[in-house]
Amino acid sequence: MCTILAIESSCDDTSAAIIQDGRILSNVVSSQIIHQKYGGVVPELASRAHQGSIVPVVNAAFSEANIRKSQLNAIAFTQGPGLLGSLLVGNSFAKAMALGLNIPLIAVDHLQAHMAAHFIDAPQLQLPMLCLLVSGGHTLLVQMDANLAFTFLGRSTDDAAGEAFDKAAKILDLPYPGGPLIDQYAQNGNPYRFNFPEPQISGLDMSFSGLKTAFLYFIRDHVAINPNFIQENMADICASYQHRIVIYLLQRLKKASKLSQIKTIGLAGGVAANSYLRKKLMETAQELNWELHIPSFQYCTDNAAMVAMAAHFKYLKADFAGQDCTPFTRSSL
Ligand code: KG4
Ligand code: ZN
Repeated sequence: MCTILAIESSCDDTSAAIIQDGRILSNVVSSQIIHQKYGGVVPELASRAHQGSIVPVVNAAFSEANIRKSQLNAIAFTQGPGLLGSLLVGNSFAKAMALGLNIPLIAVDHLQAHMAAHFIDAPQLQLPMLCLLVSGGHTLLVQMDANLAFTFLGRSTDDAAGEAFDKAAKILDLPYPGGPLIDQYAQNGNPYRFNFPEPQISGLDMSFSGLKTAFLYFIRDHVAINPNFIQENMADICASYQHRIVIYLLQRLKKASKLSQIKTIGLAGGVAANSYLRKKLMETAQELNWELHIPSFQYCTDNAAMVAMAAHFKYLKADFAGQDCTPFTRSSL
């Protein structure tokens, strides 16, 4: 029997999960609300909040799973990429606990963990898979082969898709993180009312910063004519902006599938929670005969269960880390 405790602390969620023989027994997430009033994650506040919540979160993961520390075979943690101060909390905690219990340590890449999340709900998933990873920090098109090996096919050269949502929300004076709110307002809006420009970048790479600037000018110009423009048109603004992002992501995914000839498609990261993206992706999958995998919502946003799943595969290969491993802020993959 193989039982692993996994810890995720790369950004503003403190999370701990227990996995036993590839099955998730608990997944506890504590999200930090302190950042809301600042309109984005404040790194120093994030690491302090991790320090405060890591012990109760880990204890909750043990009691929810009904597992004792003495039953553990390994401790896993997110090594990076992420905020250094945040990563250090999970990293130090995992190292100390592994040392105390005299069991191996497993270092997991956060992006690899997002991809591994697909195996929680679909253990029989056949690789290769083409995965669109869309979060607040990353927008990537990745080919995942056996043993969780990766090939990056495309990435955003500037803002991540989640940032494009959050920054537009900030322009609309909505609180952070604005992505879910744009999704909510858009439900009652017309996605074809306003036309936002398609980002111009070749190949499979993506860009969102031009779109954000176009959005900023669009709002500024309309508010100059009608100060109530946002309030009067909130639903249509959100629906049209969201439509542009989603259609752009799908267009890239279709292109990547055509080039790689891969029809097993995965979606990961916090933006995978977007209802319009899910709807459009399901329509496209039906139309193009794709086998679509979207992890359940709790495994899409940052969580330790996905770290645990990646760690499970690493444990089977005896891929362990030393006490001298250090966090990294950019992906090593
Ligand atoms: O994966 P995640 O929890 O954290 C990072 O690793 O970044 O993703 C958070 C991002 C935020 O930008 C948030 O606004 C976005 O995911 N997000 C959404 C939705 N839910 C979360 N964006 C659009 N629509 C949503 N429903
Ligand atoms: Zn993430």
